[in-house]
Amino acid sequence: MTMNVKRVCVVGIGVMGSGIVQVCAQSGYETSVVSRSAESLERGLGKIKDSLSRLVKKGHLKREDADAVMNSIHSSTSLEDCAKDADIVIEAVYEDMEVKRGVFTELDQICPAHTIIGSNTSTFPITALGAVTKRPEKVIGMHFMNPVPVMRGVEVAKSLMTSEDTVEKTLTFLRSLGKEPVIVKDSPGFVTSRMMCLILNEAVKMYESGLASIEDIDKVLKLSFNWPQGPFQLLDLIGIDIVVAVLNTIYNETGWERFKPAVLMTQMVNAGWTGRKVGRGFYNYK
Ligand SMILES: NC(=O)c1ccc[n+]([C@@H]2O[C@H](COP(=O)([O-])OP(=O)(O)OC[C@H]3O[C@@H](n4cnc5c(N)ncnc54)[C@H](O)[C@@H]3O)[C@@H](O)[C@H]2O)c1
Repeated sequence: MTMNVKRVCVVGIGVMGSGIVQVCAQSGYETSVVSRSAESLERGLGKIKDSLSRLVKKGHLKREDADAVMNSIHSSTSLEDCAKDADIVIEAVYEDMEVKRGVFTELDQICPAHTIIGSNTSTFPITALGAVTKRPEKVIGMHFMNPVPVMRGVEVAKSLMTSEDTVEKTLTFLRSLGKEPVIVKDSPGFVTSRMMCLILNEAVKMYESGLASIEDIDKVLKLSFNWPQGPFQLLDLIGIDIVVAVLNTIYNETGWERFKPAVLMTQMVNAGWTGRKVGRGFYNYK
């Protein structure tokens, strides 16, 4: 644990929030989590419990330690209740700029002056989030990877206004979670989302132009590069709607043609064929 960071507040308990809460609580921080409804809190806490139980089964964690971690997590539907004493806040709500702006405005009013406010956004400009607060020097990107307890990389996005002191404190904090932070400049999609979405978009454009079938593009890339899955399998897993949204954010922010989503992907989103979660994407799961 770092000297001056004791209390962490996580906003949102979805796929990412639940993982972030788990690693913070496991690392000994007083961790609180806030979500909009009691149901989403219950679902998210259930996910953390399952994840800790898997560690117990594999012999990586003692049952009593898992129970202690679970019991140490404070949860609430009140942002004020969770954030008022926090040293670091990590925002992990939906990828919606208006929602995030609202959360940052509220956090700025609730949190003590010293609190660092981080965002787990995959694509949005950190500088724009910092700008809605009166503490832009204390706003920073903390882009954790999915699944959070497993993946060691975290992109730390420094906005135009983020101070060196905030960067240093954030790096120390992330290392104390067992992560390997990498500093990147504030740019839409940072390194990871930008690279991944470019590859996925190119795969769909190759298919559109008749270069090879969906199955063959996946097959040749898996066999040639040892990728665990092909781009179309990954598109279906992430959700085609999510990938199109990321591409559109990068395209709209930069005007770079190569990020314009392939026409077929936008059509598929309009058809509701967004991937595994609905049983149909580039592959059929029904
Ligand atoms: N899923 C991924 O693989 C992944 C990877 C890296 C980063 N991210 C980013 O992490 C963030 C969260 O993504 P996710 O996949 O966990 O989303 P999710 O939809 O699984 O969860 C979002 C959570 O935010 C809560 N929420 C929404 N509005 C809120 C508000 N105003 N106050 C409090 N809670 C609120 C919801 O109840 C839900 O618990 C996004 O910015 C996303 O881009 C996602």
